[in-house]
Amino acid sequence: MQKLYAAVAKVSRFSMPRIKILPHHEICPNGAIIENNPGETICEAALRNGIRIEHACEMSCACTTCHIIVRHGFDSLDDANDTEEDLLDKAWGLEQTSRLSCQVIPVDKDLEVEIPKYNINQVSEDH
Ligand code: FES
Repeated sequence: MQKLYAAVAKVSRFSMPRIKILPHHEICPNGAIIENNPGETICEAALRNGIRIEHACEMSCACTTCHIIVRHGFDSLDDANDTEEDLLDKAWGLEQTSRLSCQVIPVDKDLEVEIPKYNINQVSEDH
């Protein structure tokens, strides 16, 4: 399947967006740059690349553990729906450019994202 995506991207006039993931002390200590396959969410792309973003509800838009902050490229993304907006209100470290990574499918622009230091699971367990 990976070869198919690569071939499609090669012949397509659109290239696969790249996602720069900023360093996170546990999940991605050195940061990473990954490619996003067509139709794939940021959470799926990260997991496929061994970056273990938490996803407690299995990416069904029912928790906030996959919270990310989009540092560059936010305006290129579709708007969050009401369910995502409501959940984001509960996220630790919410910012104007926060999103749930399981709900965001990059289209044609590269992104830079930060995984917050904590998520709501860690806050309730550790604090
Ligand atoms: S994994 Fe639960 S909302 Fe994204």
